[in-house]
Amino acid sequence: MIAVCPGSFDPITHGHLDVIARAAALFDEVVVGVGQNPAKHYLFTPDERLELVRETTAGLANVTAEPLSGLLVDFARAHGAGVVVKGIRFASDFDFELQMAHMNAAIGAVETVMLPASSVWSTLSSTMVREVASYGGDVSAFVPEVVARRIRQKSQGGEQANG
Ligand code: PNS
Repeated sequence: MIAVCPGSFDPITHGHLDVIARAAALFDEVVVGVGQNPAKHYLFTPDERLELVRETTAGLANVTAEPLSGLLVDFARAHGAGVVVKGIRFASDFDFELQMAHMNAAIGAVETVMLPASSVWSTLSSTMVREVASYGGDVSAFVPEVVARRIRQKSQGGEQANG
């Protein structure tokens, strides 16, 4: 069975990679959907986020990454995926993911599998990583080295991707 792991990955963290690797062990193939939430402002452009996901998942033989635009259920159908995998950290994640799982089941007959975040990454978020990095803090414990390097370049350059 093919699974989809959707997210905006701004940037991809060890927490995301943990969920993707565990999904890759459970399913035949995993397609990571790198999407865009119009309500959010992004540090990295869509192409940069996709490139970092591809680079950091290159060691996982059954994982690919593709841009996600439009509905997640359409992305899943286009890739032959019948299941969406989401990592869950706190109750607030669950509340939101449950709503989305019900909607995606209703509009696309797609199942959702929720994986509890591994305890070591259970409170990690891209938002926190960006916040620490924006003040010049060290985020190298939370993201792969290639990502830490790109964040440093962005933060020093004062860049921000708009959408
Ligand atoms: O958790 P994130 O990073 O904000 O997720 C972003 C993304 C793009 C994966 C998410 O917003 C999404 O799934 N968008 C697709 C639009 C869609 O299908 N919406 C209805 C879901 S109920």
